[in-house]
Amino acid sequence: MGLTIGVIGLGRIGGFHADTLAALPTVDHLVVTDADPAAIDATTARLSTARAAADADALLSAGIDAVVIASATPTHAELIEKAVAAGVPTLCEKPIALSIGDSAEVVRRVADTGVPVRIGYNRRFDPAMAAARAAVAGGDLGFITTVRSTTLDPAPPPPGYIAASGGIFRDCAVHDFDTVRWLLDDEVVEVYAAGGNQGDPYFAEVGDVDSASILLTFASGTVGVVSVTRYNGRGYDCRLEVHGSTDSVVAGWDDGTPVRNLQPGNDFPGGTPHAFFMDRFADAYRAEMTAFCDTVTGAGSAASGPNATGAGIAASGPALCTAHDALEVAVIAEAASRSAATHQPIRTDEVRAQYISTPRQQGSPT
Ligand SMILES: NC(=O)c1ccc[n+]([C@@H]2O[C@H](COP(=O)([O-])OP(=O)(O)OC[C@H]3O[C@@H](n4cnc5c(N)ncnc54)[C@H](O)[C@@H]3O)[C@@H](O)[C@H]2O)c1
Repeated sequence: MGLTIGVIGLGRIGGFHADTLAALPTVDHLVVTDADPAAIDATTARLSTARAAADADALLSAGIDAVVIASATPTHAELIEKAVAAGVPTLCEKPIALSIGDSAEVVRRVADTGVPVRIGYNRRFDPAMAAARAAVAGGDLGFITTVRSTTLDPAPPPPGYIAASGGIFRDCAVHDFDTVRWLLDDEVVEVYAAGGNQGDPYFAEVGDVDSASILLTFASGTVGVVSVTRYNGRGYDCRLEVHGSTDSVVAGWDDGTPVRNLQPGNDFPGGTPHAFFMDRFADAYRAEMTAFCDTVTGAGSAASGPNATGAGIAASGPALCTAHDALEVAVIAEAASRSAATHQPIRTDEVRAQYISTPRQQGSPT
């Protein structure tokens, strides 16, 4: 008997996750819902194994084994808490909540429930990024001097999405923050961020920026640079570079990397540029959904226990992002947002001290 998985939110990523889940051999049925009835109809028409639920409450009491929450960010906190109260293992899209305060509160409430809560930082399942992490962990690169993580979106989401997103640091750069922290198994201690607007005015109207760079100082002394934009006309450019005292590796360099190489006599990369995150990370999303199903059935190993502190970055191999890890990502995003607003470097321990009260949330890696 396979799993029945609920999917709440059937927009860009939720519809994609529903398709991915429906194609997994471990999944028999889907129960789907969205605030927009047309999105439900489109999904049930497309997927013969999907049936509709009127709303999240109906879905959570429809006999599902687990739920994937992929609705708009402002709904995440409430839906995670509802799912956990119903005893349903949960994978929620990033971020946990719009604000660091709400994120900390959600993590505090789910911490001791025994119901697994995982957050959708899918890059952990990208084969090259996982290999980069293994190279760092194996000492192949010596000590790590520099990590660069890049997320350049080809075109911005619509104004309604941006207004509800929490801003570029909480919505977009969080992927990079999770990746570099997980990759290095190291905590960010200081953040300096700068951003700007040259695109549509709707970013500035909601206090957001369309492009930013963030300098991260890690406890080890490694320095990280994260670059993000909503306007990268050549394509979806998501890359990672890790430089160490004895070697350097990259992830995300393939024929579809959207850059024109002007080096004479060198025509790499020569393929069709990646168009969007769906095509660039299709395999990673499939691996992420498979890992979540394995967590539900008990087949998963790494970081599969209830909301373990520290288990995510310490576990070997790709591991779903725990609620604790996602809260650390939220701390970095909060520090970046404050830094960009004040033009000052922000210490992450100042943010933690303000919002994260319990030792469990502060996450000694036990
Ligand atoms: N991991 C990733 O790579 C990735 C990529 C894109 C988006 N996301 C995250 O996924 C979430 C959705 O993003 P998107 O791009 O699909 O947005 P979207 O606007 O395309 O879709 C959001 C959907 O949620 C629905 N919705 C809103 N409130 C709801 C509610 N209370 N109950 C049920 N449905 C509701 C909307 O009707 C819409 O269909 C965001 O939190 C975003 O941060 C993650």
